[in-house]
Order: sequence, then structure tokens, then C-alpha cells
Amino acid sequence: MPELIELFRTGPNTVGGRYMRTLWHPILIAAELKPGWAKPVQILGEKFTLYRGESGTPHLTAFRCAHRGLQLSVGWIEGDCIRCRFHGWKYDGNGQCVEVPTEDESTAKTVRLRTYPVREYLGLIFTYIGAGRAPDFPRYPDFESGGELWVEAYTRACNFVINMENDPVHIPFAHRESELFANKPPEVPVKVDAEETDWGIDIRSTFANGWVHTNQRGWPNMTCFKSPRQQHRSHSPGACRSTTIITGVFKSISCTTPPDQKRCNSIVNATPPAAAKSAARTSSWAKRSCAANCAFKTSTATTKRT
Ligand code: FES
Repeated sequence: MPELIELFRTGPNTVGGRYMRTLWHPILIAAELKPGWAKPVQILGEKFTLYRGESGTPHLTAFRCAHRGLQLSVGWIEGDCIRCRFHGWKYDGNGQCVEVPTEDESTAKTVRLRTYPVREYLGLIFTYIGAGRAPDFPRYPDFESGGELWVEAYTRACNFVINMENDPVHIPFAHRESELFANKPPEVPVKVDAEETDWGIDIRSTFANGWVHTNQRGWPNMTCFKSPRQQHRSHSPGACRSTTIITGVFKSISCTTPPDQKRCNSIVNATPPAAAKSAARTSSWAKRSCAANCAFKTSTATTKRT
């Protein structure tokens, strides 16, 4: 089915890549970018420079300097500008070159890097790298109501479509020896039903004790999960292996952002119920190593909503 395979691709000149470029994507946990710092990031097969100006404003611009192509993220942040480490060309937050050492001002005026819209929301930095005007920014009111959010990110070595199309029945089997079942036996749902919606698909798993887990898939890159309870054990090696068992209703929203067509980053934003918050503060969440060029390095944070 060659036409289906096209949806798996992420490059700028592919069917799947053009589709994914019509959306806003989270690219980094906001807490991981301090004012005055830059990071290289890669999404949908393209590399960029993400930096936070000294004012606190994040900016996304081209990966390389327009002069001789040095990777801009190794440069310096000055105010809301970034200065290239090779010959000192300086660009403002709109990508406009504002200084070329040893040349007069007219040279700088002729040089401009491409930049991309950036938004901070729910503890994440989002961007839109598609053509034309960005679409309306998506909002998730359930996660905006004050209090704390848990934010976690990790990379999977699979195409983003594989990450999205998976079904819930695999969990008690494929993840039988994982932290999901550290303190309880694997439970197989007695019933799974699904319904197509305007947003994508709703999948409901019913268990023998009457609990219903709801999993909403917002194609092509969002998953919302609601469960009567959840547990999570740290993946970090060594002593820091704690388990958080949540006894209230647990809600999470997960965004799948592919660095390329062989990997996908999952970013989970979760609202812990009040009963679990004190445990969350002392618990260590997953710390999984990412492949090179991944924007999401061992990402976990508890953050105030913005
Ligand atoms: S390569 Fe950036 S200033 Fe020369």
C-alpha cells in the first residue's frame, strides 16, 4: 500500500511531512531552556536553533548561520539576539541580522534567517514550522485550571504512526514486566470498544472491577488518557526507583512529535489528583536517555501552569 506508507514520512517534501507541518508541535519542556541559553532541536527531519533571550522570550530560528554555516546554538545570547561563535554575526529574534563585525550596517540589513512562531503553554514550548500563517493554537482547558502539572518526555525508536495506532489490549502482555505492573498483576480488559469522533477516535477499556480507562486519540499526534488510578515507577538507574500510586482520577495528554521518521518523542502532560500531589513531589519520574539530536533529554518536570 504505497499511499499508506507516504503517511509515515516526515520530510518537508513528503505527504506525511506536509500534513504534520499543518500543526503546532511541542519541541521542548519549557523548564529545560533557561534565559540566555540555546539548544539544537530536530523535528520532522529538520534541524533548528531554539534559544531563550535574556528577557525570557523563546525564539526558534534556522539551525545554521547565514554566513559560513556554523551551528548557531553554540553561539552566545545577547539580549534577545543570538551571536554566531565563528565570526560574530548577530541576529535578532525575528532572524534579522543586526551586526556584521568589520562591515558597515548596510551589510547586516541584507541578511535574514527564517524564524518560526513559538508559544509556551502547559509547561512546553510549541512551534509551527509549516508554510504560511500558523493555524489557531490548540488549547486543552482541562489542564489549565491551576495547580501543578507533571511533564515528562521520552523518545521511542519507532515511527510516530506506530506510536499512535497502538491498541490498549497489548498493555498487560507487552508491558507485563514493566513498571506499570510493579505493584499489581497485569489486568486484561474484559471489553474494549471504540468510537470515531470529530477529534479522532475514543477507545474505552472496561475492567472486571468496573473501572473504565478512556483513551482519546486525536489524529495524527495527540492522545488523552483518563483513568480511575495510575501508577508510575522511576526508570532512573540506581537508588532512585520510587513508585507513585495515584488513587484519584488521573488525566494525561500526550503529544507525539517525530524528530524524524524513525523516531518519535512522546511528551506527557498529566494532572495528578490532589491526593497524589505530595507523593509526586518526592517521586522521581522516568529518566530515559534520548538518541543524539533529540530535543527531549531525560525530560521531566513539575511546573505551574502558564
Ligand atoms: S559562520 Fe557565522 S559569522 Fe561566520
